[in-house]
Amino acid sequence: MKISLLRWRRLVVSMLLIGSCTVLAQKQDSIKLLPPQTDIGKPLMQALEQRKSTREFSDKKLSLQELSNLIWAGNGINRPETGKRTAPSAWNAQDIDIYVSTSEGLYIYDAKNHSLKQIHDKDIRAHTGGQDFVADAPVNLVYVSNYKKFGERDIEDMKFYSVANVGFIAQNVYLYCASQGLATVVRGMVNKSELAKLMELEPEQNIILAQTVGYAKIETQIGTDENGGLPGNVSPEDLRKFKSQGSICSSDFGAKGDGKSDDINAIAATHAFFEM
Ligand SMILES: Cc1cc2nc3c(=O)[nH]c(=O)nc-3n(C[C@H](O)[C@H](O)[C@H](O)COP(=O)(O)O)c2cc1C
Repeated sequence: MKISLLRWRRLVVSMLLIGSCTVLAQKQDSIKLLPPQTDIGKPLMQALEQRKSTREFSDKKLSLQELSNLIWAGNGINRPETGKRTAPSAWNAQDIDIYVSTSEGLYIYDAKNHSLKQIHDKDIRAHTGGQDFVADAPVNLVYVSNYKKFGERDIEDMKFYSVANVGFIAQNVYLYCASQGLATVVRGMVNKSELAKLMELEPEQNIILAQTVGYAKIETQIGTDENGGLPGNVSPEDLRKFKSQGSICSSDFGAKGDGKSDDINAIAATHAFFEM
């Protein structure tokens, strides 16, 4: 069963045009982040209860306020009189830089100005890890230790403390995400030498870990409830897919059409969706 949806096609084209205009209008060297909202979120014990790793992300973007809160929670300045941070660091070296990779480009967090300075405007998300979800998730943080910040220290100490320092930042990010219902996973599976080139890092800058942040992917689920009703939940990704392909098929909702499977729910769902 195929239902033509030409009106949607026109709508999608105009939305794409509006979207590209917005991107062009927003192109800039740095992003001034908003002050962190320090009076929001779940109590710490609830955030700890809900902290977890998630590996399926929607492509929904974070708002500027959400991004501002996230980065500040990770390693922002929480005592302006001393410049000290939300995460501790050995010798207060503050060697860790948070790089932010999005579809708009690569940025480095400037904690003093609470802003993101653009490194370049290339989308390198797919190179921030060896797992597929990194390419589409809205934000990939890359934690980089700048060994210069340690001064004259033993190399083994620098290796050990830089890794420890990142652990605190990553956990801050985990807890902020748990508190705000965001999805995240910290990642060691990174091709560091390839990524370092794409990030234009200096030899003394060392990638330690990466961390993906976004919204959990919502699966499309259709079924009948005990009253024979049809509760449905169409994910934003599927909605976009249906709109761009300009048609919907019962197979989009799981119909097999093999003459053996019971496809009635999928067919009903297709009709119900078309009537929406
Ligand atoms: C140092 C470190 C490296 C990790 N690397 C990866 C990774 O490359 N990919 C991944 O999917 N998860 C990675 N994880 C996440 C762990 O797999 C995850 O924390 C673990 O399975 C426990 O699940 P939980 O975080 O939900 O408690 C890493 C975790 C840590 C602490």
